[in-house]
Parts: sequence; C-alpha cells; structure tokens
Amino acid sequence: MRKQIAAANWKMNLTLNEANELLDNLLSKNITISDDQQVVMAVPFPYLLPANKKIENKKGFFIAAQNCYSKKSGAFTGEVSAPIIASCGIEYVLIGHSERREYFAESAEVLAAKVDIALVNNLKPIFCCGEALDIREAETQNEFVEKQLQESLFHLSGEQLENFVVAYEPIWAIGTGKTASAEQAQEMHEHIRKVFAAKYGNDVAASISILYGGSVKGNNAAEIFSKPDVDGGLVGGASLNADEFEIIINSLKS
Ligand code: PGA
Repeated sequence: MRKQIAAANWKMNLTLNEANELLDNLLSKNITISDDQQVVMAVPFPYLLPANKKIENKKGFFIAAQNCYSKKSGAFTGEVSAPIIASCGIEYVLIGHSERREYFAESAEVLAAKVDIALVNNLKPIFCCGEALDIREAETQNEFVEKQLQESLFHLSGEQLENFVVAYEPIWAIGTGKTASAEQAQEMHEHIRKVFAAKYGNDVAASISILYGGSVKGNNAAEIFSKPDVDGGLVGGASLNADEFEIIINSLKS
C-alpha cells in the first residue's frame, strides 16, 4: 500500500533557533502516524543533522534535503552530494523543485542524473513536476507534466520506481495562495498515475505516492487529500507554522 505523506518544504527560511523551536513545537504535539503515513521535513542543509537527531525516536518522521548535486564528489565548491547527505543518515531528497528549475536552470537531463545518484546512495527522491500558468491556460498541462516525467524518470526500471514519490506542484499555485481545486489536483494525479501505468504497469503505478503542492493550508488540505489519487502534500509556507502543519498531517488519509 502506498504511503500517504505530509512533506514540509521549509525552503530558505528559519534561523537555527527558529528551526529548533518549530520542530520542538511540532514534536511536542503527540501526533500519531499510522504505518501507511509519513511526515517528511525538507530543511536547509546545516539543519539536516540536528533535525534528524530530534526525530530519531519519532515513528513515521523523516528529514529530507532540499536538493543534491548531480555528481558523486570532487571540486564543486558549495555543492552538497547525495553520498554526503546519505552519510548524515538522511532518507529523502527533493529533486526538481520548480524554484530549482527556474532560478538555478536545472534541466531535465541534470534532474535525471540527480535522481540516479540519489537512488544509488539509497536516498528516496521526491521528484517535483508541474506547469506554469501559461501552460495551464493553453490547456496543455497534461502533455507538459508527462514530458517532465518521461525526460527525468523514464530511464529508470519499474523496480526503481516502486514506492517512488512524485510531487505535482502547479507553479501558479506555489506561494500564491491560489491553490488548485481538489478536482484539478485529482485530474492531474490520475493522469500522472496513468502515464506510469502505461509504461510500467498498474502495480508500479499504484505503489507511487503522488503528493500535491501549491498553497496547501490547514483549511484546504483535508479536501485535497481526500481525492483518491492525492497521497498527501508538499507544503511550503504553511509548514513553517507548527499548528497549521499539524492540521495538515492530521488531514492525511489513513
Ligand atoms: P507553498 O509552497 O505551499 O508555499 O505554496 C509549496 C512548495 O513550493 O513546495
């Protein structure tokens, strides 16, 4: 059974003190996570170790890096590799967030290499995809997202894609307060699952967790997550508030 996941993306926010306070606050809440649910928090690199320490006895909680470099090691000043992240005991890494694609010019090819190096190092990628507003307005979002998946994931084997995590994040809904409707999310998630099913078969497609991202809040998470192909969310702004993120976690399907 695929996991239902509440993933936080802190982005480039919070000082160390603020990060500690947020985590302590969240972890003090006694949130119960079922075997089919997970909470994943993507934190800035310097917080990977202390955050991982804080959640070490918390069942169902995981820490993620927000990015990794596409090469194993070497003279790449300022970059952080998948082996370095894995050696810190981290389980997840975000790959292909639209902000990385846009501001750091990450191409489909580079993202494919990042997915590969993450998997080789036993890091679980959370692969992000999603269209900009002009593509949605031209009603070509299905083809666009399908191409993103094909270009960066379709070189993988079915085995590598079992229990994989994809986050569909329409760019027009990120940080804008303008969320996709639950129906729009379901429509795209169903399409994404069909795309995987056509290439890898129904079993692999059914095992993939497809998260929705883009202005998920405490007051809309339950409706969006209730849709059959929406397996939780990747949450930016609202994950910076422990009370709000608690509501979002509690909105996961059980
Ligand atoms: P948002 O960000 O929830 O603030 O819209 C989501 C994301 O970019 O992952």
